[in-house]
Amino acid sequence: MASASPSASASDQNREFFNNEAASYDAKHEKTLSQLVEEIRSRLDFIGADLVNDDDDDDSDDEDGDGAVNKDAEAARERAVRLLDYACGTGVGLPLVIVSRALAPYTTQCVGVDLSENMVAAYNARAENQGLTADEMHAYQGNLCVPDDPSPPALAGPTFFDFDIAAVGLGFHHFDNPALVARRLVERLRPGGVLLILDFMAHGKLDSTHAASHTVMHHGFSEDHIRQLYEQAGAGTDFKLEQAGIAFNRATESRPEMRRQIFIARGVKA
Ligand SMILES: C[S@@+](CC[C@H](N)C(=O)[O-])C[C@H]1O[C@@H](n2cnc3c(N)ncnc32)[C@H](O)[C@@H]1O
Repeated sequence: MASASPSASASDQNREFFNNEAASYDAKHEKTLSQLVEEIRSRLDFIGADLVNDDDDDDSDDEDGDGAVNKDAEAARERAVRLLDYACGTGVGLPLVIVSRALAPYTTQCVGVDLSENMVAAYNARAENQGLTADEMHAYQGNLCVPDDPSPPALAGPTFFDFDIAAVGLGFHHFDNPALVARRLVERLRPGGVLLILDFMAHGKLDSTHAASHTVMHHGFSEDHIRQLYEQAGAGTDFKLEQAGIAFNRATESRPEMRRQIFIARGVKA
């Protein structure tokens, strides 16, 4: 593939870089990814959404006391919980689906979207290896960060709308226009759906010799910036942000392990 020129867009640079990374991404970042998954797993209550349906587990199933299970409660249990995993990479969203499944008898669906076709292929290979059908978990190539392309045909149709959760793990610092992506993700949530973002808190500029430096558009974010993104995108209701410290593996022998503060933020579409 031709090398992205210095004036190439953020999307072009990211696509080329992550196409080349796809085959080695999981192995290179294994330790970090499992820490991130644990940070997500330990915050299912914080995330909210309908991953765990506490409300339908109580006596309200038989609200009129006639011994018959309330049909609404039954229907709620059978309702699909749909997750949009944007900038999905190789599929770190998978554990979230598995956890939600283990905790509640829901049918869940995870739709991944990434601009790198090789990341998308790796994600789909992982889903198939787990024995999941395309209805349960499948990724598509797409980009919601192009200002003059508000409705990309590749992401049209009911599969790409009405999500309970839209999640982005470590994608926002790669977007040249994070506010635009946040808005477009919220458009794809159902009312009451949750926008979940995991990314870096503000940090020093990345060393320019770092292999990924040209793909990084933001050196992390402040809490105020993230809150503003949520409010302007229409998901500011019940906004919450928590932080955690994560060790990032050294990518090369000569580079020391790096500790970074990450945030996990959530807010609800009104
Ligand atoms: C650091 S990886 C994170 C992948 C995955 N979410 C994870 O946590 O392992 C960043 C991902 O963002 C994708 N990406 C970058 N810019 C994007 C854009 N504008 N739209 C969709 N995906 C994008 C890249 O292709 C890459 O897969």
